[in-house]
Amino acid sequence: MSLSHLNPSTELNPVPSRGIDLQYFRRYVRWLEDSGYDYTLLPYGSSSADSFVVASAVGQLTERLRPIVALRPNTAFPLVAAQQLATLDQLTEGRAVVHIISGGNDAEQARQGDYLPKDRRYDRTSEYIDLLRRAWTETEPFSHQGEFYRFDEFGPGFAPYGQSIPVSIGGQSEAAFQVGGAKADIFSFWGEPLSDLRAEIDRVNGIAAAAGRTDRPRIWVTFRPIIAQTDKLAWEKAHEYVARIERTYNAGVFHKRYQVATPQNVGSQRALDFAARSEVYDRALWTRTAAATGGAGASTALVGSPETVAAAILDYVDQGASLVSIRGYDTLADAIDYGRYILPLVRQELAHRAATGRRGTLQDEHPGALAPGFDLAAAAGAR
Ligand SMILES: Cc1cc2nc3c(=O)[nH]c(=O)nc-3n(C[C@H](O)[C@H](O)[C@H](O)COP(=O)(O)O)c2cc1C
Repeated sequence: MSLSHLNPSTELNPVPSRGIDLQYFRRYVRWLEDSGYDYTLLPYGSSSADSFVVASAVGQLTERLRPIVALRPNTAFPLVAAQQLATLDQLTEGRAVVHIISGGNDAEQARQGDYLPKDRRYDRTSEYIDLLRRAWTETEPFSHQGEFYRFDEFGPGFAPYGQSIPVSIGGQSEAAFQVGGAKADIFSFWGEPLSDLRAEIDRVNGIAAAAGRTDRPRIWVTFRPIIAQTDKLAWEKAHEYVARIERTYNAGVFHKRYQVATPQNVGSQRALDFAARSEVYDRALWTRTAAATGGAGASTALVGSPETVAAAILDYVDQGASLVSIRGYDTLADAIDYGRYILPLVRQELAHRAATGRRGTLQDEHPGALAPGFDLAAAAGAR
């Protein structure tokens, strides 16, 4: 899984842009498709491109890749969003996924007229998800009078291509867990240390069980890998990158509108907290990039050779993640490199396990930062 970029601007190299660089976007999406990525997220913000329109384009540029539309409930009446998603699902023959964002920042929500406090936004999300699913499945007209929405005699609505459309939840606050655990098909995280993620997965599963679910949400976790031929070269590259990212953020040219001293969303608070506790966790998780960006968005890195990073991804699979998003700091070049050097290693190990019932040797042979004598200062290359 990855995230689709619309132009070459990155934290490493911000470039003034007219928005969508069509040639770049087409190449990027085709590479994802050809490299075997399964999903791509189309993010949403008040000043971003519209995620639905972009998702529709992704659908038409590819045959297999599944577009994940980031959707904030405040931006569309639920029955309208259900119709848009069902249309996308039909246009992609069943590939649509929706990622529901309740909103992590009051000022950003207010830019589009949403003045609900965060806990109430999650209450709205809960009602919204129920209405999406009813709109996709009810075969007779129905009326609704809820806390946030009311309508009469809707339906039957425009049906998706498949039976339903997977609903993912983004957010790490207690309210996010309650709604996601009870109702989401997929629950998503930014990169966390393994033991923290394990605890969070148990928390989601506990809520799902208490809600009477027989299934469990699939777990999605997102990283920003920094790879090079060897672990040593990757750590050198990582330190060079973070210096450039710091310069970009200090100059205030990137994501300025979303940068706040103390983020309101728990996901960013957690990222900053991990960064304050330690710079490196487990085999390859590195938090300096999260610290440099104020935990804005997915920012924790996995650093190492392709083998080490593939092994680190497998560590997360071992903990229960089934969707792993990797997006680089050098976006297109990294998408290509991951497709060439990381995805085959992960797939090979999973295929080996499926065929033999036994684990391969990749994780044992590439300990990364778990190697005895690993020295972060030395890895920084005296920079
Ligand atoms: C994988 C992932 C992707 C996200 N994508 C977006 C996005 O495209 N736009 C956005 O505003 N927030 C996005 N978020 C942020 C959260 O969904 C948002 O901050 C949350 O609704 C409220 O925060 P909290 O519950 O963590 O406090 C994403 C979060 C995750 C984990």
